[in-house]
Amino acid sequence: MFKRSRFIVVFVLAVLTMFVIAACAGESENPFGTTTPVPAADAPAPDTSEPVASGPNIANGERKFANLGCSSCHSTGSNKIVGPGLAGIGARDAEYIRNAITDPGAEIVDGYTNIMPSTFANLKASDLDDLVGYLKTLN
Ligand code: HEC
Repeated sequence: MFKRSRFIVVFVLAVLTMFVIAACAGESENPFGTTTPVPAADAPAPDTSEPVASGPNIANGERKFANLGCSSCHSTGSNKIVGPGLAGIGARDAEYIRNAITDPGAEIVDGYTNIMPSTFANLKASDLDDLVGYLKTLN
């Protein structure tokens, strides 16, 4: 009886912690990196020995790459469309990739002109993080 109520207290605390983390993460995005929310009743008990997953949502980054029109100018291979193919861009550091998106005129890739829109500077911070995270996966 005592052990069981202790388990319930720990479980409730763990769930509350998850809510606080979710609230801090803000926005409507799921902070746990999945796109389909898992109903709480079916969710396995949180494993408190593991840190909560954080970092960019790669799947969202890939979606944004298509939805924002990046893919109309950039292939993820090495072929040129309007802009350079982005195969291998993952080898560049995240800062370079981020600047290439938010301030494309600052550093122009050899052989190209400054025609990439600068409007991506207005992207939501989390979407920008996710895009950079996705581009980091292109080897
Ligand atoms: C209208 C076409 C166009 C669109 C849309 C566009 N880009 Fe570009 N992009 C270019 C061109 C042209 C260059 C090369 C000139 C330069 O460096 O600014 C470039 C350069 C880049 C680079 C640097 C590549 C390298 O090899 O160093 C990255 C990264 C990049 N774009 C990402 C993006 C992402 C992410 C998006 C969508 C949010 C996007 N681009 C949308 C045309 C475009």
